[in-house]
Amino acid sequence: MKRTIGVFDSGIGGLTVVKELVRRFPNLPIIYFGDTARVPYGSKSKEIITKYAIQDTIFLLSKGVEFIVAACNTVSSVCLDKLKATFKVPIIGVIGPACRKAVSVSKNNRVGIIGTVATIKSRAYEKTIKSLNNGIRVFSRACPLFVPLAEEGYIEKDATHTIVSEYLTPILRARVDTVVLGCTHYPLLKPVIRKIIGSEVKLIDSGSCVAEELESVLKNSKSKSANLEIFLSDLSPNFIHLSKKFLGKRVNRVKMIEIERYV
Ligand code: DGL
Repeated sequence: MKRTIGVFDSGIGGLTVVKELVRRFPNLPIIYFGDTARVPYGSKSKEIITKYAIQDTIFLLSKGVEFIVAACNTVSSVCLDKLKATFKVPIIGVIGPACRKAVSVSKNNRVGIIGTVATIKSRAYEKTIKSLNNGIRVFSRACPLFVPLAEEGYIEKDATHTIVSEYLTPILRARVDTVVLGCTHYPLLKPVIRKIIGSEVKLIDSGSCVAEELESVLKNSKSKSANLEIFLSDLSPNFIHLSKKFLGKRVNRVKMIEIERYV
């Protein structure tokens, strides 16, 4: 069986999820859409995020994908149910896999969640964790400055250390033993987050959790060529540079599409 996976995100942060998928399934054909013209989603309303996510899905379906990963934590938090109810194709988000992992690794039943404003406001992580284990206490924090810091490559800077520390201190004071990186961009900030939270606290990366859970679905996929096609709704001049950061390698060929046409 040959399955083409469609992956979408509000921008190019979802390439951190693609990186995990490629690592685990090197022969899987992937079509990626990043809504770079309308990023960020994390500060927008539920109505707008839902409208955009539906357009993103329609675009991927027009490319013939048979399975969709909503790599964007904001979309997965705010409107995954709506997407699943609207489309017949299987659609998986990043919240469920990350929550299942967090619940399985936390020893003291105290879990921290960090994400965009919309993700935290939706309480999707908290509700999913509670549905899996009602005894777990969840401490959430929106970290809106993390996305621009990651995009600017502000990883090893003093200013980043100060900001990350300020956002994470209340969560650490709550004595969590597990923190979920609930945003596509946050894996880039892992080195500084790790420095601040110390070596004992477990860090859960939602992208690698999705890839892990897809193992059972995709294990019989037999495709000859690993083909990654990338579509964006805007081509920013620093895309080549940013793609290396998020995907770990340069992407030279991307196509631009007009996403507003997909309704
Ligand atoms: N991709 C978004 C997420 O994972 C972060 C960027 C945005 O705000 O759109 O939540």
